[in-house]
Amino acid sequence: MAILIKGGRVIDPARNLDGRQDILIEGEKITTLAANLEAPAGARVIDAGGMIVTPGLIDMHVHLREPGYEQKETIASGTRAAAAGGFTAVACMANTNPVADSASVIYFIKEKARQEGVVRVYPVGALSKGLEGKEIAEIGDLAAAGAVAISDDGRPVMNALVMRHALEYAKMFNLPVISHCEDEALANDGLMHEGLVATILGLRGIPAAAEEVMVARDLILAELTGGRLHLAHVSTAGSVRLLKEARARGVRVTAEATPHHLCLTDMLVESYDTSTKVNPPLRPAGDVAAVAAALAAGDIDVIASDHAPHADEDKDVEYDYAPFGMVGLETAVPLVVTELILPGKLTWQQAIKSWTANPARILNIPGGSLVPGGVADVTIIDPDMEKEVDVNEFYSRGHNSPLQGRKLKGWPVLTIVGGRVVMENGKIIEE
Ligand code: DOR
Repeated sequence: MAILIKGGRVIDPARNLDGRQDILIEGEKITTLAANLEAPAGARVIDAGGMIVTPGLIDMHVHLREPGYEQKETIASGTRAAAAGGFTAVACMANTNPVADSASVIYFIKEKARQEGVVRVYPVGALSKGLEGKEIAEIGDLAAAGAVAISDDGRPVMNALVMRHALEYAKMFNLPVISHCEDEALANDGLMHEGLVATILGLRGIPAAAEEVMVARDLILAELTGGRLHLAHVSTAGSVRLLKEARARGVRVTAEATPHHLCLTDMLVESYDTSTKVNPPLRPAGDVAAVAAALAAGDIDVIASDHAPHADEDKDVEYDYAPFGMVGLETAVPLVVTELILPGKLTWQQAIKSWTANPARILNIPGGSLVPGGVADVTIIDPDMEKEVDVNEFYSRGHNSPLQGRKLKGWPVLTIVGGRVVMENGKIIEE
């Protein structure tokens, strides 16, 4: 059925578009984009008055946990969480079981996503065999199977020579290397950011330097190799400084920040709520402000959730024993709207660019823009809708969100993937 989206404020940063437009979708494609379009006979007309209409949002850093950790998330549940959160495409990390370090696991993820997923799924291949950081994976095989990037995310690559080789090999296939920057020795089994709050709470700290020394190393290696480096979850003012300096010198680097590192501080850990335990850890206000300013300035290219679901029983333990990670797919948009856009720290255009054109460019995937003839992946956001977060309503199997009960504004209300409405008013539409 044809769909006409009428009267919305269309924001498409890739085309420098921000204004009232109607969008006609026929089949899997966008056919026309213009002011005041007539609905063809039999078309469904969606009134988008007062709404923000954007290219389908892309989350380039999520953990779907399948294969191997289906108690935490599956491709079915994780893609539904994505659609509920307004995302039409996700890139999923390789720390599954078995690890996505071979073509067969990449094929498995793609096939499962085709059968059971409701949004597009782009697998990230492992950087090293078994995520052990010792021997690089068969990057050519991973690329041929459809991996859009390589990464050992969840674990750092401690051996600089392994990182060097990964950057060199990935360059041959034009794949970005997504780096989880953490010096394991400096992190020293810490539980939260090392600083005043950790001291008061008596919890072992992870210094900002544990991230920054690896950011510095990887920037140096990117410069040495000419490889494409993408910094995952940048969380400190020091990392931002290093990134800006490298960019100014022309190093090929891109970077992402998570909604939680952009909007939440380490003060939240005072609750001892294990959903606040995340890696890299929540940082103090100064770091949060520096990361948000870097996003607004365009030095950080992407907002990515690092959606890291864990089973309730994994997180329902003492802070010490809980695994790192929080879910993010279903709260990313309203958290960023509430904490950054409404207070004027970030414009709609900047936010949408970091969820559309920029991740599409970095991963070299379709979408990211509303082009006639292009795929009909569209997200509609109600900027005025206010609602309390309720983790029990999540489509994700993970309930590990520190935002439970928080009132947020600016929720996605419609997600269209390839011309099909997959989410409407927060509910997944099953075929
Ligand atoms: O908090 C985190 N959880 N950070 C990571 O880098 C990995 C992730 C996970 O896989 O649970």
